[in-house]
Amino acid sequence: MLAAIALLAASVLALAALLVWWAYPKRPVDSVWVRPAGLAVFKFTDVPRGRVLAPEEADAYARRVLAGMTLEQKVLQMSGDTWLWDFTGQRLIGRPWRSGRDRRAGLPALVHSDGPRGVGLGSSTCFPVPMARAASWDRGLERRIGEAAAAELRAHGGRMWLAPTVNLLRHPLWGRAQETYGEDPFLVGEMGAALVEGAQGQNVLATVKHYALNSIERTRATVDVRADERALREVYLPHFRRVVEAGVAVVMSAYNRVGGDHCSESRHLLREILKDEWGFRGFVVSDWFFGVHDGVKAAEAGLDLEMPMARVFGRKLLAAVRRGEVKAEVVDEAALRILRRRIEMETRPDPRAYGPDLIRSPDHVRLAGEAAEKGLVLLKNEGPLLPLSRDTTKTLAVIGALAAAENLGDRGSSRVYPKDVVTPLAGLRAFLGGQTRVVHDDGADPARARSVAAGADAVVVVAGFTSRDEGEYLPFALFDETETGGDRAQLALEDPDRALILAVGDANPRTIVVLEGGAAITVEDWKDRVPAILMAFYPGEQGGAALARLLFGAVNPSGKLPFTVPRDGGQLPSFDNVSPSVEYGYYHGYTLLEKRGQEPAFPFGHGLSYTRYVYENLALDATAIGEDGEVRASVDVTNAGTRPGEEVVQLYVGFGRSRVDRPRKRLRGFERVALGPGETRRVTIPVKAKDLAYYDPVARKWVVERMEYDVLVGPSSRPSELLVVVVTVVD
Ligand code: BGC
Repeated sequence: MLAAIALLAASVLALAALLVWWAYPKRPVDSVWVRPAGLAVFKFTDVPRGRVLAPEEADAYARRVLAGMTLEQKVLQMSGDTWLWDFTGQRLIGRPWRSGRDRRAGLPALVHSDGPRGVGLGSSTCFPVPMARAASWDRGLERRIGEAAAAELRAHGGRMWLAPTVNLLRHPLWGRAQETYGEDPFLVGEMGAALVEGAQGQNVLATVKHYALNSIERTRATVDVRADERALREVYLPHFRRVVEAGVAVVMSAYNRVGGDHCSESRHLLREILKDEWGFRGFVVSDWFFGVHDGVKAAEAGLDLEMPMARVFGRKLLAAVRRGEVKAEVVDEAALRILRRRIEMETRPDPRAYGPDLIRSPDHVRLAGEAAEKGLVLLKNEGPLLPLSRDTTKTLAVIGALAAAENLGDRGSSRVYPKDVVTPLAGLRAFLGGQTRVVHDDGADPARARSVAAGADAVVVVAGFTSRDEGEYLPFALFDETETGGDRAQLALEDPDRALILAVGDANPRTIVVLEGGAAITVEDWKDRVPAILMAFYPGEQGGAALARLLFGAVNPSGKLPFTVPRDGGQLPSFDNVSPSVEYGYYHGYTLLEKRGQEPAFPFGHGLSYTRYVYENLALDATAIGEDGEVRASVDVTNAGTRPGEEVVQLYVGFGRSRVDRPRKRLRGFERVALGPGETRRVTIPVKAKDLAYYDPVARKWVVERMEYDVLVGPSSRPSELLVVVVTVVD
């Protein structure tokens, strides 16, 4: 018996030792430092500060710093500085990551922190999740959020922000759907680029992630996602390219595989497409936890920085270079890319000072509120029941546990820790003051909720999902709680929530359902039983205040769906989070429904307001353009109601006359416009001919067909709401 116990203990110890050895940071030891002959060492600290360097100048300085570095120093630049003990206990929570500290080269640590909902350090401002911000279709707002979050990061001492997430929403069950900007590559690209521009204006290195095809949680570390070259180029990569063209400093590779290779080791993705074809000048960082497997392959494929510590780079990479398995130029290139970006962005004059007063400043909290207001999507409003009147609503019933919950979204890497959160209940109470009696019932007992609802002048039911149901998949309790998120299990609300809505809707015909969640929630079985439905996503720390203002008409709703709400799962592509290999096809979202001729519950781009907008006189400034040309579509938009409002004008291009298989139409432009009552504005949206191209996988190039294209403009993707004109691309 004793022997057995001893054997067991020994095996456990041996296993633990093996694990530690396997995971332990393997940094190169750089004991002998030989100054390269004839070169005075030029350090990072010798680069002149306080002026904007042209790219060639930054490159020249980076090369001078590099020339003074040994191979060991260069290899050190390629790994994070996290130590194994940093992973113990609570040390990871709300702490920054670091890389690149090298005193001899004059390099301070590059301090990183997560996003994209805000900054994951201290008590920073918690903005609505990006999916809610996407529903604003407001590039300027997203740029300001980028600025605000980056300013807070700087105030915390950080320089690199792990945001934005621009993986395409292929299916609403993806656990991290909330972190991205929807199902459409154009919208995702525009919003991602805006966030990057805002953040980088504060001299913060933004990091676009996760490159590429990362939209399943449960199998994210292993799944091999297969997509043919057209689906890849036309559907899954355009938004990454857009963000790269906007000048993003860093690209994070994804955990999953694409076409057999882990993304951190994919020469096709990293070297051929990103660096060679798109001309990306920044550096590629791996995703965090065991995201790189074969260091030699990764380095050769174009991975520049392994995070959070040296596991397969470090000493192993150094040895591989010495053995001639990895070319020294590969290490030079990686270190150069990192140094160049750091020099470019860390020596620039700052637009402001970054004092601690910036963290959750009143301006930033107000911005979170504005974003929440603009991101709420009014899906249905029969009657119209909304807006409610303060004068006639003497008693308001607020039903559901979520009404009183701080429901901010994922508790994985995108978590933010704000000090105060305005819940829907608190927001309504504060907005209504003492004038209206606000009664809350958590809905646990439907009969009781029914009677509370029956006695009220109006009812708000808050239902949906939380971080328990969806979020980043963390298979072990890495953070402070055991909730792990992962992919959502169902498209519809859970049964008790549906039963509650039906009960309350029956008891009071003035019932409004407010949905919380990261992406589409199906509503078919109860949609016709309530007059009003509002999609709130995870609306951030000021969400409850925004909701109250919107329900009572202090704000006119203006959000539009960044995804399709299907009637049921049959309208979606398959979602497989168990198989080792999955295929991503060319169609999903509205392109799939339109291809099949199906009607969704609510179409992509849909969102109502308390006023009415009329679209007229769509015209183009040219009817024929060349391959390098651009056409400008203009349309009169009138606010035909009595309240001021903001409308999102959408432009789609139709490919019905193509010789190849293409979607009916795709979004190619949008503009948000503010209109007073009775006001008309002519809105102009440009479209470039090159953005009409398809990818020819045989010729390996983009082809702009010489043909007629429909240009469709209107308030959503619903065909009956769009005006149409035709443009021809000619030789
Ligand atoms: C996530 C990244 C995140 C990183 C660092 C990873 O697990 O996929 O999005 O930036 O952790 O927290």
